[in-house]
Amino acid sequence: LVLVVDFGAQYAQLIARRVREARVYSEIVPHTMPVEEMLARRPKAIILSGGPSSVYAEGAPSIDPSIFTSGTPVFGMCYGFQLMARGLGGEVSHTGAREYGRTPVAVSEPGTLLADIPAEHTVWMSHGDSVSAAPEGFTVLASTTVTPVAAFENVAAGLAGVQWHPEVMHTQHGQQVLEHFLHRIAGCRQTWTMVNIVEEQIERIREQIGTEGRAICGLSGGVDSAVAAAVVQRAIGDRLDCVFVDHGLLRKGEAEQVERDFVAATGVKLHVVECSDRFLTALAGVTDPEEKRKVIGREFIRVFEAAEAEVLGAAAQEGEKVAFLVQGTLYPDVVESGGGAGTSNIKSHHNVGGLPEDLEFELVEPLRTLFKDEVRLVGEQLGLPAEIVHRQPFPGPGLGIRIIGEVTRDRLDILREADAIAREELTRAGLDRDIWQMPVVLLADVRSVGVQGDGRTYGHPVVLRPVTSEDAMTADWARLPYEVMERISTRITNEVAEINRVTVDVTSKPPGTIEWE
Ligand code: XMP
Repeated sequence: LVLVVDFGAQYAQLIARRVREARVYSEIVPHTMPVEEMLARRPKAIILSGGPSSVYAEGAPSIDPSIFTSGTPVFGMCYGFQLMARGLGGEVSHTGAREYGRTPVAVSEPGTLLADIPAEHTVWMSHGDSVSAAPEGFTVLASTTVTPVAAFENVAAGLAGVQWHPEVMHTQHGQQVLEHFLHRIAGCRQTWTMVNIVEEQIERIREQIGTEGRAICGLSGGVDSAVAAAVVQRAIGDRLDCVFVDHGLLRKGEAEQVERDFVAATGVKLHVVECSDRFLTALAGVTDPEEKRKVIGREFIRVFEAAEAEVLGAAAQEGEKVAFLVQGTLYPDVVESGGGAGTSNIKSHHNVGGLPEDLEFELVEPLRTLFKDEVRLVGEQLGLPAEIVHRQPFPGPGLGIRIIGEVTRDRLDILREADAIAREELTRAGLDRDIWQMPVVLLADVRSVGVQGDGRTYGHPVVLRPVTSEDAMTADWARLPYEVMERISTRITNEVAEINRVTVDVTSKPPGTIEWE
């Protein structure tokens, strides 16, 4: 067990995730936990996270320096690094010189922590104060133009730290540094795997729901809800009911995939509610993007509530009560909504428009501490088919917000075909995992003149919107290989009669968003 002491919510989960990647089990504890309590858990090592404040700021979070002499190895990052320096008699100065973002660092003495790492590399910094003198017994390993002491270690004492953030993607060799601490300085064994995560979650869910409780889960067809449902199903078996709302705005084969593949892989109890007429009627004449979202969100809630009442009704007859709602909330969702521990409010992004607040459910969120790629690994671990586990994100309002203009059944059919071709070609090119997602957008109110088979056409354009992203908060337009674009364009214009032009969106986010509406 490695404890990650949280001094600022932004970093701790990411560090815990990197520790998991180093195949070591970790848990996050608040910095307010007394040191004796931390040590009582007999951690193999303790990591002090970064934090938002200066160690000199009023009310700055701190930690009892006895932690550094307890004999348990400690690694400090950024703020944690400064706490370690100060706690052991080093010097932290308030120089006013700040470093933010990408910073070159020079390794003067690799020691154990920076062994095999290039002498010059780039790290991600975010600090105002700097360590100006390392504590006694420590070797200074690296510096920057602003920070004389940017990394240090005292291997005999099991202590080390870096001023930068090794956990963030932009830091070169960050994972290596962390692993050197964990494996070489702290001597942690590499035994932690996704299997452990799944088992631990199953155990937790059983505890939360008990031996009698029942749960309900809304499946969206996306990875998150599918994996969440699969974990809960493992934990409580047929005391879980899944509801899948087929609103007619889904991609080709999506409903079938959930009905067939997901059920086959999990054996989950599934209630499919087919209600495309209802959605199309509600969407008739609606062209404004926000209005569309509202209509879809509203109808979704109504259908879900009706389905839930039905499931509840059936359960009530058996004298049971559905008390738990399973959500596929991921860690980035939690961070975005500013939440830490405790119950979360359901984000509107998550379940089309958001479920009503007065739903009397306790939430079960087995993926709350994980990132998307970890969720995919959990899904694989649970034996879910690759088509579900590796599918690209798809918005709750579905194709409804990818038709610019009114949503009609005909237009949905056209877009569904074009989208299926684009997805097929992306998969064929082996790009599914490089491309974050590639919406295909139908400009339904635009027409252009074309020529096909010696005849004039007057059809609609579609826009391909391939993007790369880490978390969908920002995105870059993806440089799709020309051959792939060519195949998609040729096939769509040949196979979908109403489309005579294929265009590519080359806008990053910001300023564009990923979806067009
Ligand atoms: P934007 O268009 O805001 O999209 O850049 C960011 C990510 O969120 C997805 N998205 C949604 N997902 N419900 C969802 O579940 C929604 O209402 C919704 N709107 C956008 C989008 O596909 C992208 O991955």
